[in-house]
Amino acid sequence: MGSAVVHGFCFLDVLVGNFGMSCGDDDFYVDIYCPPSKRSKIGAPFTFGENVSSQEQEPSINVLPDECLFEIFRRLPGSERSSCACVSKHWLMLVSNIAKTDICRTTSTLSLKAKGDANTSSTENGVSYNDVDMISGDNEDAEVEYDGHLTRCLEGKKATDVRLAAMAVGTANLGGLSKLLIKGCKPIVGVTDLGMSAIARGCPSLRDLSLWNLSSVTDESLVQIARGCSMLEKLDLSHCPLISSKGLIAIAKSCPNLTYLSIEACPMVENESLQAIGKGCPKLQSISIKDCPLVGDNGIAGLVSSASALRRVKLQKLNISDFSLAVIGHYGKAITNLSLSSLHNVSEKGFWVMGNAKGLQALSSLIVTSCGGITDMSLESMGIGCSNLRQLFLSKCWLVSDNGLAAFSKVAEHLESLHLEECNRITQLGMVSAVSNCRGKLKSLALVKCRGVKDMDMDACVLSPCNSLRSLTIRNCPGFGSSSLAMVGKVCPQLENLDLSGLLGITDSGLLPIIEGNEAGLVQVNLSGCLNLTDEVVLAISRLHGETLEVLNLDGCRKVTDLSLPTIADCCLFLRDLDLSNCAISDSGIAALADGEKLHLQVLSLSGCSKISNRSLPFLTKLGMTLLGLNLLDCGSVSSSTLESLMGSLWRCDILC
Ligand SMILES: *[C@@H]1O[C@H](CO)[C@@H](O)[C@H](O)[C@H]1NC(C)=O
Ligand SMILES: *[C@@H]1O[C@H](CO)[C@@H](O)[C@H](O)[C@H]1NC(C)=O
Ligand SMILES: *[C@@H]1O[C@H](CO)[C@@H](O)[C@H](O)[C@H]1NC(C)=O
Ligand SMILES: *[C@@H]1O[C@H](CO)[C@@H](O)[C@H](O)[C@H]1NC(C)=O
Ligand SMILES: *[C@@H]1O[C@H](CO)[C@@H](O)[C@H](O)[C@H]1NC(C)=O
Ligand SMILES: *[C@@H]1O[C@H](CO)[C@@H](O)[C@H](O)[C@H]1NC(C)=O
Ligand SMILES: *[C@@H]1O[C@H](CO)[C@@H](O)[C@H](O)[C@H]1NC(C)=O
Ligand SMILES: *[C@@H]1O[C@H](CO)[C@@H](O)[C@H](O)[C@H]1NC(C)=O
Ligand SMILES: *[C@@H]1O[C@H](CO)[C@@H](O)[C@H](O)[C@H]1NC(C)=O
Ligand SMILES: *[C@@H]1O[C@H](CO)[C@@H](O)[C@H](O)[C@H]1NC(C)=O
Ligand SMILES: *[C@@H]1O[C@H](CO)[C@@H](O)[C@H](O)[C@H]1NC(C)=O
Repeated sequence: MGSAVVHGFCFLDVLVGNFGMSCGDDDFYVDIYCPPSKRSKIGAPFTFGENVSSQEQEPSINVLPDECLFEIFRRLPGSERSSCACVSKHWLMLVSNIAKTDICRTTSTLSLKAKGDANTSSTENGVSYNDVDMISGDNEDAEVEYDGHLTRCLEGKKATDVRLAAMAVGTANLGGLSKLLIKGCKPIVGVTDLGMSAIARGCPSLRDLSLWNLSSVTDESLVQIARGCSMLEKLDLSHCPLISSKGLIAIAKSCPNLTYLSIEACPMVENESLQAIGKGCPKLQSISIKDCPLVGDNGIAGLVSSASALRRVKLQKLNISDFSLAVIGHYGKAITNLSLSSLHNVSEKGFWVMGNAKGLQALSSLIVTSCGGITDMSLESMGIGCSNLRQLFLSKCWLVSDNGLAAFSKVAEHLESLHLEECNRITQLGMVSAVSNCRGKLKSLALVKCRGVKDMDMDACVLSPCNSLRSLTIRNCPGFGSSSLAMVGKVCPQLENLDLSGLLGITDSGLLPIIEGNEAGLVQVNLSGCLNLTDEVVLAISRLHGETLEVLNLDGCRKVTDLSLPTIADCCLFLRDLDLSNCAISDSGIAALADGEKLHLQVLSLSGCSKISNRSLPFLTKLGMTLLGLNLLDCGSVSSSTLESLMGSLWRCDILC
């Protein structure tokens, strides 16, 4: 047959189909792009016929043992080597096995050198513009050039060894990838140690690696990565059941610049690997460990006591005890953000000691979720010990009561943000003590789904106002009613953001004092689900705060009618987001809105407004001049032809219908 012309690009289409890859898509020519114009002649006899897809005939060069091919490939200049990788999966895998140190720089004497019939662009040092072409633009692949670094994300069926090998070979001449994210999908075994090894060899400057849901990747992958990618800074492992301590220990030994490590649901990871990371990675700043059943106190304590640069720590669903918290409290001198959740074996004593150890002086943000160990006493101890705490977020901490909150508020002098969610022993009294201890620092307070809140009258005269508070959220606390609200109005005169969504029990008379007493000017108001509010409230908000109001949510305020809309249109110059979903408004209300010359809405939601009909078409078209989003879901009286017409004229606006 003589020497055949190998046309890499065409081959790929053919070959990919024969790999038995489940994806069968453009699996690898996107990564090794061999320009069709470039035809490489290979000197050795080749038996491919005209019919390139007849794979039965083995090209005679393939009778050479892999060792020989390997020797040949490693003597080729970079661009030619990449062309060879285009020939077959077998060749690709051989090429991807060539480590940087294997590559021979002297290529001149090699007879198998590919000579293009077009102008081949190989230059003397083996780097060419065609190498750049090999990283082809592939829209689906989320390949971003980020800070001049190459980034890739492989997901689902695209996550295969072949693709990884192709990526490694294709980017090798540019220094390899800098960031790689692989997300497997359970039943498919796409990526194995083979593909990861290719990456380890081809991407020596890899800095950021994420491996999610990869059931066949073992420690061998991490051992190879550790060997090839010592510049690694971020490693994120999630649901990799075969990765154990061995792989992580290899990383700890070879990657001294690791700053970020996250391990989730890796059931074989043990204490010793974390100890090794603590010792081997002095720059470690951020650690997150979730749901690793073999990790215990020895692991966490070993890590925290030696990783002295640690700033962000997140521990979730671990079988650790008071001991770990004591170590964190003692050694965590650089920790600024600490998040602890579902630590069922940590008791009150653990949190108490953590605060009392007085090491957490840099702690600025504390998040605790589902930990029975947070009690009144341990919360106060944290307040005393962590003297720079600015943000406290407690969720599902059932044992904290008003007394604990009051004691904490007294000692936490720098607190700026307090968020309490599903803490059912907290009532208005706790909230009031937090507010009245605010010392000009507290800016944001949120009470969410706290079932213990009951409406009660309080003597507001004895309370001093908290002038620093800008944001107040009381969401889905069904007991919170109008009497409590009146008290809030007195103590929070400088609010800008008010979220009272889901407070079914509040009425106009409860809310009006807040609106009228506000001195700062409300900017964002969320009254979603406050069923009993009427136009009176909306009119007051519009008249008094029209010059500051930007966001108004009235979703589900079914007593709000068309009456409100002319005033909104006249007064609210800066309103950009208006939600009137499920309100009692009709076409004439929309007409009034459209009449407002000063109104420049960007988002308008009218979902569930059944009285709006296709007579609103001209008004909506007018409003649409400024709109970016319009929600018309469940507007039963708007006909489909009206919708079509709107879509036609409002091409700038996203219409939900
Ligand atoms: C080329 O291969 C295809 C399928 O492999 C076959 O159907 C076709 O007959 C072959 N053509 C020639 C000219 O051999
Ligand atoms: C190489 O390219 C130049 C111009 O780019 C062209 O004139 C010349 O014919 C090409 N040589 C070959 C062998 O194709
Ligand atoms: C892993 O796959 C499961 C389904 O198989 C999915 O629910 C989960 O979100 C995936 N996790 C990640 C991190 O992609
Ligand atoms: C770690 O980072 C430092 C400073 O950025 C750099 O000089 C050093 O080469 C890096 N070490 C490795 C193994 O990449
Ligand atoms: C991890 O450490 C804890 C104690 O700190 C120990 O109980 C547990 O057995 C250790 N786990 C392994 C797998 O060694
Ligand atoms: C808590 O620790 C004790 C022993 O220290 C152990 O028996 C128990 O199983 C642990 N509980 C949980 C939820 O891990
Ligand atoms: C939790 O850790 C303790 C020792 O620290 C051990 O005795 C216990 O069996 C562990 N519980 C579970 C559920 O793993
Ligand atoms: C750390 O806490 C600060 C507040 O003190 C917060 O602004 C920041 O987003 C937190 N960082 C992380 C990574 O959670
Ligand atoms: C709304 O107000 C009416 C009377 O004004 C009252 O009967 C009703 O219970 C209130 N609804 C809610 C959910 O509080
Ligand atoms: C208002 O509150 C509802 C319910 O809590 C929420 O879904 C919505 O995102 C909030 N809207 C704004 C603008 O904050
Ligand atoms: C407007 O809607 C009514 C019913 O709601 C329908 O009878 C009428 O044909 C619609 N007009 C247009 C122009 O779609």
